[in-house]
Amino acid sequence: MTDHFSIRLATQEDAALLPQLEDDAGSLFATMPLDFLQRLPAEIPFGDVAFYHQRIAQQLCWVAQRHASKGQSPQVVGVICADWVLEDKAYYIAELSVAPLAQGQGIGRALVSHMQCFAKEKGVDLTLTTFREVPWNAPFYRSCGFVELSAPVITPFLEERLSEQASHGFLRDDRCAMRWSFATSI
Ligand SMILES: CC(C)(COP(=O)(O)OP(=O)(O)OC[C@H]1O[C@@H](n2cnc3c(N)ncnc32)[C@H](O)[C@@H]1OP(=O)(O)O)[C@@H](O)C(=O)NCCC(=O)NCCS
Repeated sequence: MTDHFSIRLATQEDAALLPQLEDDAGSLFATMPLDFLQRLPAEIPFGDVAFYHQRIAQQLCWVAQRHASKGQSPQVVGVICADWVLEDKAYYIAELSVAPLAQGQGIGRALVSHMQCFAKEKGVDLTLTTFREVPWNAPFYRSCGFVELSAPVITPFLEERLSEQASHGFLRDDRCAMRWSFATSI
């Protein structure tokens, strides 16, 4: 908890808001250089409500909620959710988004830190796939203690995620897989 937001498990009532939050958060990519934007697929897949319902039911989805202030009700401004991957002995971070007006205030870092505490309590690692060069992707995760994986340590599950993303039109070289070890101090 900080002075302006707190993190809690998402409820099924939150699910309806989350695809729009994810879509809005993605507008930050428009600030990337043109040559990067030209490499993106025309249609970028977003999580639908069912995607969130599933992770919420598994208690693997958390939201950041801005506290009520000046007559405004509390508002969900960020989300992180994960999948348990038994063969990797790790939670795979399937989504992390912060609403545009709430970005740059430490909420994304707090959501990752929350997920790291959760994984550490369970004694397992975290993994994800992301853009290698986008400042708020791999460089940000690196600053949270994640390391980029390269063959042969990319697991079949992560290799499958990268191939799936390539099949949606993302350039394989633009994407990378990363892992955070629970044994690392946070
Ligand atoms: C990634 C994301 C969730 C970060 O949320 P956030 O609340 O804005 O992040 P924070 O304020 O905690 O900042 C975390 C770090 O990200 C980086 N970062 C965030 N916004 C940035 C920007 N506009 N430009 C460059 N770096 C940025 C910085 O390294 C920052 O650390 P610092 O503040 O110590 O310098 C948010 O940018 C987002 O929703 N992006 C679109 C979706 C996305 O890329 N999700 C991750 C997919 S793998």
